[in-house]
Amino acid sequence: MRDDTSPTTLGGRSRVAIVTTHSELRETLAEADRSRAARVALVPTMGALHRGHASLLDEARRMADLVVASIFVNPLQFGAGEDLARYPRSLEADLAMCQQHGVSVVFAPSVDVVYPAWPPVVTVDPGPTGSILEGASRPEHFRGVLTVVAKLFGLVTPNVAIFGEKDYQQLVLVRQLATDLCMPVEVVGAETVRGLDGLALSSRNRYLSDSERACALALSRALAAGAAAGSGGATGVLAAAEAVLGSEPGVAVDYLTLRGTDFGEPPNAGEARLLVAAKVGGTRLIDNLAVQLS
Ligand code: PAF
Repeated sequence: MRDDTSPTTLGGRSRVAIVTTHSELRETLAEADRSRAARVALVPTMGALHRGHASLLDEARRMADLVVASIFVNPLQFGAGEDLARYPRSLEADLAMCQQHGVSVVFAPSVDVVYPAWPPVVTVDPGPTGSILEGASRPEHFRGVLTVVAKLFGLVTPNVAIFGEKDYQQLVLVRQLATDLCMPVEVVGAETVRGLDGLALSSRNRYLSDSERACALALSRALAAGAAAGSGGATGVLAAAEAVLGSEPGVAVDYLTLRGTDFGEPPNAGEARLLVAAKVGGTRLIDNLAVQLS
């Protein structure tokens, strides 16, 4: 792969190549492929990287010879009135984390590179799963996510791509994208990383005040209570989770639902997924947990 001759290298000593255009990316990947029989992993991100992203990068490193991380705040997945303009951006720190976690190539394009025509003419329809739950309150969100992920898959042609289970509906939809559009990529979900207090790590947690963060802990507590009630079946799980959420007035619940792992009906017995979305102050938070039903 490129090192001294990379378009940009971090601190002049890193092996991380930072590329911003399609041609630089293709060239860098082609050279990497020539120098070793590389299995390539892609970790798509919107930057503002935290320990949750670090675990995705580590998983990618375990599964491949060469890790590509993309850093792109994708305007197509933000609705009007959402936090596109104030979405946290921290490129220098992100690059340092990529370097620490064995990333070989960072693709950090501008909006013009990803969307030469705006709005884009051809986009990916996420189908019915894209319009429920997160898609119900963010109507064009998953069209935006799947469109940019399809572009990244086309550009990087990774063998494997890693997505966090934290955005579980996104993970299900990306799997469907790869299957339905016959994309030769293995889509892997990596476990949610939590703070010591149980809050799922998210770039949006920084919007929470201390008191809001204390309220937000009701989400992970509710999921844990639901998961512990798996022997009571779906009804028992939902009742246990609802009891916790209902006791925290600072949390405005959008949805609490139990689904099959592929987002179908939950089974009578076996693995299901308990998902919650809620607003705490002005911040919308989501979380989910695996539940064993019996
Ligand atoms: O999960 C995210 O950060 C984004 O939705 C993704 C997958 C990078 C697409 O913009």
